Amino acid sequence: MNNYTNIALAGFGNIGGYFYKIINKNIKNIYLKTGNYPLIKYIAVKNINKKRKIKIPKKKYVKNPMSLVFKDDVDIIVELIGGAEGMAKKLVFEALKNKKHVITANKALISKYGDKLASIAEKNNVNLEYEASVAGGVPIIRSIKEGLIANKINKIYGILNGTTNYILSSMENKNKSFNDILNKAKQLGFAETNPESDLNGSDSADKLRILSSLAFNKFISKNKILTEGIQSINLTDIMYAKNLGYKIKLLSISEIKRNKLMERVHPCLISKNSYIAKIDGVLNAVVVDGLPIGKSVLQGEGAGPGPTSSALISDLCSILKNEINYPFGVSVKSRKKISSFNTLDHLCSSYLRIEVKDLPGVLSSITKIFAKNKISIKNLIQKPDKVKKIASIIIITHENSEKNFQNLLSHLNKNRYVLKNPTFIRIESV
Ligand SMILES: NC(=O)c1ccc[n+]([C@@H]2O[C@H](COP(=O)([O-])OP(=O)(O)OC[C@H]3O[C@@H](n4cnc5c(N)ncnc54)[C@H](OP(=O)(O)O)[C@@H]3O)[C@@H](O)[C@H]2O)c1
Repeated sequence: MNNYTNIALAGFGNIGGYFYKIINKNIKNIYLKTGNYPLIKYIAVKNINKKRKIKIPKKKYVKNPMSLVFKDDVDIIVELIGGAEGMAKKLVFEALKNKKHVITANKALISKYGDKLASIAEKNNVNLEYEASVAGGVPIIRSIKEGLIANKINKIYGILNGTTNYILSSMENKNKSFNDILNKAKQLGFAETNPESDLNGSDSADKLRILSSLAFNKFISKNKILTEGIQSINLTDIMYAKNLGYKIKLLSISEIKRNKLMERVHPCLISKNSYIAKIDGVLNAVVVDGLPIGKSVLQGEGAGPGPTSSALISDLCSILKNEINYPFGVSVKSRKKISSFNTLDHLCSSYLRIEVKDLPGVLSSITKIFAKNKISIKNLIQKPDKVKKIASIIIITHENSEKNFQNLLSHLNKNRYVLKNPTFIRIESV
């Protein structure tokens, strides 16, 4: 590579537009640090005639992103289109096959096809960089690959989705319902018009698969991740949790248990004094638990054009410095498959809120179901509502297996006094 490195952007939306501005603003700084000037030569978009805030010379626009793959004056393709399939997938596969370096912010693509893409990149001696795909402003990927290289990681966990963290923390701080806060998040641009993949945990699960693979030097797991979102968390539970000394957070957790991989994404009750409990709003945080480092925490904004562009520029600088590296930290042949730990064997204590008819004998009927499933109760609060003739029973259990909890829930659902599906939230010690 000479002093100018030619870049093609595929996608010029929220992220692409900001990335373009920040590169041009930082061009001298990037040269100082890498000895190379990045030059944005081409920009591919879906609709060339769309009115855009940033004025770009017409000659830079390209109609078909696939043409970038065959251009001799393109060294790096930055894919900012999005989605695991379609144009993004086709472009990234073909770019690597044609020996172009690729930078992407696309977690859906990497979590699904990262292994195949890494193997093409490695074979063709080009980079596949994806720091922006997980927790944008938190440089967790480069930290695992480089800064924490000396460590044997046992567990990696944290808050990987800013939208859900904003919703949960604002419900508590503003004492407002899920729907009120979701609407506010949409107005502020913290939630997309269709936030389903954030709310149901699948966005976090995609990111977790990428992190597990890096942390444990394994192929990206195809296992079914225990994934539960925050849609059924309501203010009542947040307030009960608070009174009991907990906060509710959507955590993504990956750990090795008995040489098997356990990955899960679900709401957790965590001690309000823990570090993670203090991460509020749109912030993300990742805790890496390893040897010899112990626990190392990184936190920052997880999404948005600024943090995402910061991550993209770190990827870009790595390529400009000619640092060709294995996309997942180790070579493809040293990565192995890992089998999954049976989720039903996972042990935890839990919080349950059960709405029941307020009648004599109900409490003993409910506690008998716990005894039958061998689940012992640590703490029980009963809150009657005399007007509606209903009562809420809030229970904190001792540790037990996921299997027993699932059986418990199924028995509770069948009980004639129980009015609706009980709320069940696992308690995590972090
Ligand atoms: N937004 C965030 O905070 C964030 C954070 C981290 C990672 N990411 C990731 O960054 C990527 C981009 O996100 P974004 O928010 O910038 O999306 P966006 O605003 O929807 O922009 C998508 C861009 O891709 C272009 N595009 C779509 N289909 C195309 C096609 N077939 N051919 C050529 N161009 C096409 C669009 O063209 P037009 O402009 O002509 O419509 C648009 O410029 C995604 O992978 C996303 O997951 C986003």
